[in-house]
Amino acid sequence: MRIGLAGAGLIGSFHAQTLRQLPAVEELVIADANAERARQVAEALGAKALPRVDDLFESKLDGLVIAAATAAHPELLVRAIERGIPVFCEKPVAPTLHETLAVLERVQGARVPVQIGFQRRFDAGYIAAREAIRSGRLGWVHTLRACTLDEAPPPPEYVPTSGGIFRDCSIHDFDILRWVTGREIVHVHATGANRGDDYIRAAGDVDTMAAILTFDDGTLAVVSATMYNAKGYDVRLEALGSKDDICAGLDERTPLRSVEPGVRFPSGTPYPGFIERFRPAYQRELAVFLDVAARQVESPCSVADGLAAFLVAEACERARRERRMVRMEEVAP
Ligand SMILES: NC(=O)c1ccc[n+]([C@@H]2O[C@H](COP(=O)([O-])OP(=O)(O)OC[C@H]3O[C@@H](n4cnc5c(N)ncnc54)[C@H](O)[C@@H]3O)[C@@H](O)[C@H]2O)c1
Repeated sequence: MRIGLAGAGLIGSFHAQTLRQLPAVEELVIADANAERARQVAEALGAKALPRVDDLFESKLDGLVIAAATAAHPELLVRAIERGIPVFCEKPVAPTLHETLAVLERVQGARVPVQIGFQRRFDAGYIAAREAIRSGRLGWVHTLRACTLDEAPPPPEYVPTSGGIFRDCSIHDFDILRWVTGREIVHVHATGANRGDDYIRAAGDVDTMAAILTFDDGTLAVVSATMYNAKGYDVRLEALGSKDDICAGLDERTPLRSVEPGVRFPSGTPYPGFIERFRPAYQRELAVFLDVAARQVESPCSVADGLAAFLVAEACERARRERRMVRMEEVAP
C-alpha cells in the first residue's frame, strides 16, 4: 500500500516509524507544513518526503494518516474524503465543535472510511477492562476512576492551539469511558486549577482538572488530569463494582509509590511518556487502519465517536467556566 502521512511532529514521527515497520506499507510519503521536518523524518526512515502538503493529495494514496496540529485536521480530512482516500486522523477530529460537526456532515455523505486515533481502544488493559465491565463479572459498576497524568506540560506554543486540557487530553478518558461501558454520559461537573507555568493560564487553559460524569444508568465516573506528574506518565482506569474491582494501567511501571511498609510494587522504571506507555496500542491501531483502508474491516473508531467524546469535553469546559453542572443536551447539536 502507498500510505501518506501529514504531520511529522511528535506523534507524526512516531507514527512514521510504525508505518515503516508494517509489512503492508510498500511506500510511505511524508509531508509537513514545515518541509524540512518532513525531510528529516523521511530521511531517517528511508521514506519519501514531499515538498508540499498539497502534493500528498496528488500522489495516489491508499490511505492518509493525519498527525498534523489539531487546527489542520478538518481541512486535511475533508480533502482526503473528497478524493476518496481512507483516513486515519489523530484525536481530536477538530479544534471546535462547529468544525467537528462540519467534518461529520462531509463524512456521512461519503463512502470513505475514517478512523479517529483513540489508541486506548487497542490497549490490552483497556480491552480487558471493557470485557470485565460488560460481562457483568464486576456486578454493577458504581464508580469508574480515570486519570491521565502527563509527566510535563506541552511546550508554550502548543497550549494555545490544543483546545484546552479537556478537548486535548481528557478526551481520551471520555472516549474510553464510553467505550468500556457502552453507555452515554448525561451530565458533568468539572473544575480546574493553575499552579504551574504561567503560559497555561495565559492561554485560558488549566494545568489540572477534575470532573465527575454521571452515566445514563447512574454510574459515576471521576476523571482527573494534570500536566505535572514528573515521576512519569500515569494513565489508569479503575472500575469498581458491587462484586469486584479492577484497574487498567496498574503494572510495575506505573509511576506511583506505595508508602505501606514492605510494599515494593510498583518497582519498575516509570513510563516516561505516552509513546512508551501505549507503543503496542499505537502499533495495533495503525495495523487495523490498513485493514480499514483496504475496506476489509469497519472503522473501529468513527468520527461520530470522536464527536461524542468531544461533546463531553465541551460540557466539562463549560462546567468549569460557568461553575455549574452541565447537562449533555446543553452542548448536543
Ligand atoms: N493519540 C495520542 O495519544 C496523541 C498524542 C499526541 C498528539 N496527538 C495529536 O496529534 C496531533 C499532533 O500532535 P503533536 O504532539 O505531534 O504536535 P507537534 O506540534 O509536535 O506536531 C504537529 C506537526 O504538524 C505540522 N503541521 C501543522 N499544520 C500542518 C498542515 N496543515 N499540514 C501538515 N502538517 C502540519 C507542524 O509543522 C508540526 O510538525 C494533535 O492533533 C494531537 O492532539 C495525539
